[in-house]
Amino acid sequence: MLMSVILAAGKGTRMVSDLPKVLHPVLGVPLLDHVVEKVAALGCEPRVVVVGHGRDLVTSRFDGRGLVWALQEPQLGTGHAASVGVERGVEVAGEDGDVLILNGDLPLLEMATLERLLERHRAAGADLSLLTCEKSDPTGYGRIARDDAQRLVDIVEESDADEAMRARREINVGVYVFRIRVFRELFARTGANNAQNEYYLTDVVVAAARGGLVVETVPVESEAEIAQINTRRELAEVSETLRARLLDELMDGGVTMIDPSTVHVELGVRIGKDTTILPYVYIEHDVEIGSGCEIGPFTHLRPGTRIGDNVRVGNFVEIKASSVASRSKVSHLAYVGDAEVGEDVNVGAGTIFANYDGVRKNRTVVKSGAFIGSGTILVAPVTVGERAVTGAGAVVTRGKDVPDGSVVVGVPAKQLREASRPRA
Ligand code: UD1
Ligand code: CA
Repeated sequence: MLMSVILAAGKGTRMVSDLPKVLHPVLGVPLLDHVVEKVAALGCEPRVVVVGHGRDLVTSRFDGRGLVWALQEPQLGTGHAASVGVERGVEVAGEDGDVLILNGDLPLLEMATLERLLERHRAAGADLSLLTCEKSDPTGYGRIARDDAQRLVDIVEESDADEAMRARREINVGVYVFRIRVFRELFARTGANNAQNEYYLTDVVVAAARGGLVVETVPVESEAEIAQINTRRELAEVSETLRARLLDELMDGGVTMIDPSTVHVELGVRIGKDTTILPYVYIEHDVEIGSGCEIGPFTHLRPGTRIGDNVRVGNFVEIKASSVASRSKVSHLAYVGDAEVGEDVNVGAGTIFANYDGVRKNRTVVKSGAFIGSGTILVAPVTVGERAVTGAGAVVTRGKDVPDGSVVVGVPAKQLREASRPRA
C-alpha cells in the first residue's frame, strides 16, 4: 500500500495574505491542486491532506475530490504535521506499506521524478527515501550533510545552520517516502530542540540515518523543478516557469505561437494541431480549442470555453462557458457568454451576448449558419434559428426566439415579413 500525506497546514506568513498559501492560484489552479493531482495520478490511497490555517476554505475548495483531511491544530512543525497526517491515514488503512509525504508548496515537481523516487525506494528495500537537489543558491532550504562514505548524516535548517553548513549546496526538497511503521516509531522519539521550537520532519530523517536504517537519497537534476512558493515573488516565478512548460508542450503538439512571450495559458488548456495563437492571448484553465483555428490577437478565453475546428476568434473578443462549433467566426470586439454557437456562424463585430439579468446567468443558442449582424445584442435566454439573420444593431429581447431562416431587425428586433433567407 502507498498512502500519501500532503502538508498544507502552514500559514504561509511570507505571502502576506488572508488566503491560505495553498489556495493561491498557480496558472488558474490552487497551489495545492498541483500536488493533489500528482498523488492521485500515482494511485496513492488514501490521500491525506493536513490542514490548519484556513482549513474550511481549503476543504470546501477540494470538496468531492476523494481526499482525507487531517487537522493539525496548533501547527507545531513539519514533523508534527506529517505525524498528524500519517495517524489519520493509519486510521483509514492500517500501517502496512509506505507513505509518500510531500510539502504542499512544490507545484513544479514532475511525475517522472516521483516515480523515480518510489522505484528506488522499492528496489533498495529502503526504510526511507527522499529527494535532494544541488542548488546554485541554497538559501532558505534545509542543507544536507554527508559523511566520508557519502551517507546522509544530517539535515540542518537555514535558521539552525552555522556558516559551514550554509555553504553546502545540497538541499532537502521536501518529498519523502517512509515505511509507515518506521515513521511512527521514529517520530515518537524526536523532539523539538531547534531555533523554531518545532517538530521537524527532517529530524525524523536524521534519526533514521543515524539509527542505521536504510536511507536512500534520489537527486533531482533540474533546480527549477523543486522551486517552492513562500512569497508572492516566488509565486510569480513558479507560474512563469510552468507557463513556459505548458507553451512548449502545446508547440510540441503542433500549435503555432507567433509570440509565446505574450501568451498566457493555464493548466488544462488543450489546443489542436495547426491552430495559430497570435500575440496577447489570455487563455484560462478548462479551455479546449480544436485544430486549424486562429485565435487572437488580444483574445480572452475563460473557463468552460469549447472551440471547434477551423474557427476564427479575433481582436478584443471574450468568450466564457460557451461552445463555438467548427468554421464559425467571432472576429472582432464581441462578448460571448453562456452560449452555444453552431457551425458556420458569423458573429459580427461588436455583438454582445447579454447573459446576465442581474440575478442569474441565462443561455443563448445560435444555430448553425446564422448571421449575427454587427452590434447585435442577444438578450438571454434566447435562440437564433438556423440560417437566421439579425440586422446591424438589432436588440433581440429575451425569449423572442428568432425562427430558422428568418431576418430580424431593429430595437426591439422584429421579423421582416418579406425576407426569409434561402438555403445556401
Ligand atoms: C521545509 C524543510 C526543509 C526543505 C524545505 C523545502 C523542514 C523542517 N524543513 O522547510 O528542509 O528544504 O521544506 O521546501 O521540514 N506545514 C504544516 N504544518 C506545520 C508546518 C508546515 O502543515 O506545522 C506545511 C506547510 O504548509 C508547507 C510544508 O509543510 O506546505 C513545508 O513547510 P514550510 O514552512 O514551507 O517549510 P520550509 O521552511 O520551507
Ligand atoms: Ca516552504
